[in-house]
Amino acid sequence: PSIQWFPGHMNSGRKKAAENMAITDVLIEVVDARLPAASSNPLIDELRKFRQRPCLKLLNKADIADPAATKVWLDHYNGIPGLKAMAVSFKKQSDMAKVVGWCRSLAPTRGSPDKQLRMMIMGIPNVGKSTLMNGLLGRKVAAVGDEPAVTKSVQRLEIDNSHVVLDTPGLMWPKIELESDGYMLAASHAIGTNAVLEDEVAYFLGNLLLKRYPGLVASRYGFDIAGLDGVSLVEKIATKRAWRKKGGALDIEKAAMALLKDYRTGVTGNISLETPQSREAMIAEKRAA
Ligand code: G4P
Repeated sequence: PSIQWFPGHMNSGRKKAAENMAITDVLIEVVDARLPAASSNPLIDELRKFRQRPCLKLLNKADIADPAATKVWLDHYNGIPGLKAMAVSFKKQSDMAKVVGWCRSLAPTRGSPDKQLRMMIMGIPNVGKSTLMNGLLGRKVAAVGDEPAVTKSVQRLEIDNSHVVLDTPGLMWPKIELESDGYMLAASHAIGTNAVLEDEVAYFLGNLLLKRYPGLVASRYGFDIAGLDGVSLVEKIATKRAWRKKGGALDIEKAAMALLKDYRTGVTGNISLETPQSREAMIAEKRAA
């Protein structure tokens, strides 16, 4: 039985999103650069093709992703017609300032007072949509897409008299295509998990990090990682830091949380959880099973 990671269903917002396509010139999809495929929403791709709107795919949080993996993803996405992919960090005002220009290049006939450029920001929770929205508008607006789609009409927010941002049509949950997608999303964002699951997520992350970034793990935690797996890595962190619960047992939960937090905040280093190749391998494995 697979884990139910998210409460919603990707269909919520589907109808509204299709309607809004008619009044959109460029779709901006924000994904997490550390897991660009797992953090995308297939509905966006569907809408883009159906309505033939150009799409700017922003791999955000590039500041904490692995630059080598990000480059491979950009090459992969930029080979797809109708798509322009860029790596950004919305923590940087200078990256934010480039977004409108990229959109203009995708819709060169738009961007004047009588032909406004209308951009719609979409993406799953926690990828940075609100940060982008606030940055583009230069003011704080209500969190993007934090209400059910059915209750609201589309909001037009003017950047200036030639450029408009459209609010996203309600919550968009990721589609968990592979079981590892749920783990990657949970590892990257503190959502949809409880304490028990948090341990499982930390073990998953530990295994992945030991496999792909052993050097970063060793230097972050300061011990020999030879022969460790996710479970024994978490144990060893607890042992090394002498984290014990009342009664003397190792405080595994605390060590699991530390591993997750170090990754989430970028303290462990620049890490990406998937590449186009690793994803293809996972899909092939699933098909064979
Ligand atoms: P959303 O609307 O898509 O749900 O995402 P939101 O903008 O709320 O951003 C989610 C979290 O990601 C926020 O952290 C935000 O600061 C962080 N974030 C956004 N862009 C970047 C980026 O380029 N790099 C990094 N490292 N983080 C980014 P938070 O912990 O929820 O809030 P806060 O503590 O930063 O205020």
